[in-house]
Amino acid sequence: MLTMNFIDLPQMISASGSVMLPGSKSISNRALLLAALAEGETELHALLDSDDTARMREALAALGVTVSAAGDGNLRVTGCGGRFPVRQAEIFLGNAGTAFRSLTAVLAFAGGEYVLKGVPRMHERPIGDLVDALKACGANIEFLEKKGFPPLRIHPADIRPDSVVKIRGDVSSQFLSGLLMALPLAGARVTVEVEGELISKPYVDMTLNLMARFGVTVERESWRAFSVPAGACYRSPGFYQVEGDASSASYFLALGAIRASAEHPIRVEGVGKNAIQGDVRFADALAAMGATVEAGENWISAARPADGKPLTGIHLDCNHIPDAAMTLAVAALFAQGETTLANIASWRVKETDRIAAMAAELRKLNVRVEEGADFLKIIPPDAAHPLQPAVIDTYDDHRMAMCFSLASLGVPLRIRDPGCVAKTFPDYFDRFTAVVKPAPVIAIDGPTASGKGTVSARVAQALGFHYLDSGALYRLTALAAREAGVDWADEAGVAFIAAQLDVVFHAGGVRLNGKEAGEAIRHEEISTGASKVAVLPAVREALLFRQRAFHRAPGLVGDGRDMGTVVFPAAQLKVFLTASPAVRAERRTRQLLERHEPADLATIQADLEARDVRDRARPVAPLRQEADALLLDTDHLGIDEAVAKVLDWFAARC
Ligand code: DC
Repeated sequence: MLTMNFIDLPQMISASGSVMLPGSKSISNRALLLAALAEGETELHALLDSDDTARMREALAALGVTVSAAGDGNLRVTGCGGRFPVRQAEIFLGNAGTAFRSLTAVLAFAGGEYVLKGVPRMHERPIGDLVDALKACGANIEFLEKKGFPPLRIHPADIRPDSVVKIRGDVSSQFLSGLLMALPLAGARVTVEVEGELISKPYVDMTLNLMARFGVTVERESWRAFSVPAGACYRSPGFYQVEGDASSASYFLALGAIRASAEHPIRVEGVGKNAIQGDVRFADALAAMGATVEAGENWISAARPADGKPLTGIHLDCNHIPDAAMTLAVAALFAQGETTLANIASWRVKETDRIAAMAAELRKLNVRVEEGADFLKIIPPDAAHPLQPAVIDTYDDHRMAMCFSLASLGVPLRIRDPGCVAKTFPDYFDRFTAVVKPAPVIAIDGPTASGKGTVSARVAQALGFHYLDSGALYRLTALAAREAGVDWADEAGVAFIAAQLDVVFHAGGVRLNGKEAGEAIRHEEISTGASKVAVLPAVREALLFRQRAFHRAPGLVGDGRDMGTVVFPAAQLKVFLTASPAVRAERRTRQLLERHEPADLATIQADLEARDVRDRARPVAPLRQEADALLLDTDHLGIDEAVAKVLDWFAARC
């Protein structure tokens, strides 16, 4: 369920289906820029529509380039023939790294006065090596705040013909890609020499490939020296088809490798075996883990290993797939044996420090992780270190959000700020939920003493499902508040207690702060307290994820007041289990007398009617029968019959 600042994912039990990929971010931004620089009009097909491409389009608009709709979601770019119409502009590029690097290089040679800036994180991402290289052949660029980092002011360059510029290859291949795309604008022959190991070569290869499609052939000696002859200029190829994003494909392929059967694999469309994106090699990494991987011209599919074998951990140099390698870090949770991702130092200067972020969030799931300057080692869960539900932070990093969605194949989780996926894949979570199947839930709601607790526990037992007694959480909160001396009406105080609740449900009962509390929470006084704290919205909010964390394989029966309306609105079966106040009061009286506790029928009936009123009248999550909930009136029904009825209904839904 998507809300404003988080998405709660239940444990997913299977995955299958087909996904049409959004366009590649890297190709889209390169194609937009080259089409803008080219002579002639270019129609761009299947271009990615996301935050990063929006920043590039805004930048091109600010530079006077016309980009218009060409029908069918395609775009028409009217090229400026190497000279942007606007000669002076201030351009904001958000956190779009590819756009920032390539525009820095291109604008350095474009002959105008420009300022380039971004969000605060963009101003922490180094760009000094690129600027130094550009300056070495005559560019005139100033750092406006901190030396080596954006924002930048760019003045017209004074290009020295036949310059040789050296650029480090081991920080970000985007520097080299940016420089290469700018070379035809230099108006003179410039040679670029790479110092040190060139990381992420496939991205450079992609740049060369696109430049060739736009009429410029780069001369290169191995991966060390590159140059473009003087006089080379970009020419529109007429139209250009953008491949589906291979990095975006990685999440779905991993999903298939972890949970899909060979008969019903996960298939991604829009990218295939001859793709120009380096991240298609991610499929090889999955195959090396044992997954069943197949590929055609325009598709790739993945499923679990053959013969029921598990995935196996791998030790991989990830230099060639820096972005998709993040997906392996989460796929590793489902493999046998540890996984080491090596040569990933570039993760540290991406949208966030991705090594630190990945390690911190995996640890929240109780995963053992070792992190180094340029590697990450993941030890998969086992019986002694099971995965545990967690609230995952995403650091304004789209890939963190998408990667962690895969952890829901093992455990329910909450992902904060899921909207950050808009950077490259705005409808990611819709696509994700369309190809996974959550563990089933039976939501049983009803008033107090209706017998729903007994019925729910028996249904759970019959099906081998987990059981959530959500009322117990409200009771425990009331008890914990009482013990801490917090008034039941103190919303913030009780909500704080609810959020910190140290509760362990075990076979025989429940422990609160290490003490058995099964009996204490059933006292009438605590029942009243529970019904009072349950009206407080902050308390309900604090307990929401704690309840959803029960939504695990093989399935769940949840009983309460708002199981079907708020906590599990997508439940396969919703039951509204009730009985008349007289019958309920009679049952409760009998129960108390059996326990040799004082019981007066009239007082009990008055009391439960008062609680009914509170539960039904409260503004937040009131007790009510959902339109899609089936009514089970137990006035004339024994427990066995009620259980059988629920089981019948559930069987009919499966
Ligand atoms: O089901 P129960 O009697 O143990 O519930 C105790 C109180 O908690 C009850 O007054 C209503 C409240 N409650 C709730 O508001 N929402 C739930 N899902 C479950 C219980």
